[in-house]
Amino acid sequence: MAIDKKFIDQFINVTSKAALASSYLVGKKDKIAADKAAVDSMRSNLNNLDIQGQIVIGEGELDEAPMLYIGEKLGTNKGPEFDIAVDPLEGTNFAANNLPGALSVIAIAEKNNLFKAPETYMEKISTKVNEKNVIDLDFTVKQNIFNLSDYLNKNPENLTACIMDRPRHKEIIDELNKLKVNLKLITDGDVSGALLVTDEKYNVDIFLGIGGGPEGVLAASALDAFNCNFQGRFLFKTENDKARAKKMGINDLTKKYELNEIVTGDSIFCATGITSGDLVAGIEIQGNDFISETLVTHKSSGFRKVIKLKQNI
Ligand code: FBP
Repeated sequence: MAIDKKFIDQFINVTSKAALASSYLVGKKDKIAADKAAVDSMRSNLNNLDIQGQIVIGEGELDEAPMLYIGEKLGTNKGPEFDIAVDPLEGTNFAANNLPGALSVIAIAEKNNLFKAPETYMEKISTKVNEKNVIDLDFTVKQNIFNLSDYLNKNPENLTACIMDRPRHKEIIDELNKLKVNLKLITDGDVSGALLVTDEKYNVDIFLGIGGGPEGVLAASALDAFNCNFQGRFLFKTENDKARAKKMGINDLTKKYELNEIVTGDSIFCATGITSGDLVAGIEIQGNDFISETLVTHKSSGFRKVIKLKQNI
């Protein structure tokens, strides 16, 4: 079934208000306070909606911080049953240090249609190419670049790869360098990084590397609406991670997930800018009003737009 379009505006409102709340703490060098402001706002606005929502990707797990935790129920308990994935402040460093790219993000699917991911790392890959066997997590970097180069009819030196600038990616980055692929190295914010493949204007052909699992699920829901490709594989390092995964129903700990195993059916995705970045502009306050920009997708209606809103604070 399709998610009623009326919810698009309601979820834009949720991320816009969370972005506004967090924007007051931009540049204050306090990641936790900036995050808490977004979380508190998101919770209270979600609780006002006529939905039966449950957090499947959140800010912690049941026994952790009393924040938007996995399993938490939200809404008035009237209306449709939704799985909700949240990252109220994606890019805590960006917000704390007043750097571009902080976002407030949410993804919604009908109950049991969003992957319940634990907070662990995920190996990810995304491209706009939706053909099978062009790009694959199981291929080497070289194979992926050669395949993509053939498919797009572009030389590797005319391709751009986005990857987080982390020591764990040294081998991948060295290989991309050797292949003369252009790099877009991001310091944080890999939800946004993964979404740069969705439009030519960002000039990114492939996103790859290891980042947060929850961020992977959020990006996947938007990539699905853009008909792009995404694969992810969770990385469970500690015994504790493995036990938590099992508890959440993940039996094969090394499984490679295709996009349609991470999100199925209809979905809505909203990402509002807190500070201006590649995808959307940040919050701007004008007297008693604020202006927000939100990247919105609604899979079933094909709605994919940046919505700019001026609202009363
Ligand atoms: P926070 O907003 O929680 O700080 O996450 C930012 C982020 O850059 C994510 O976008 C990314 O998935 C993750 O951190 C990468 O983790 P790490 O900094 O450990 O490499």
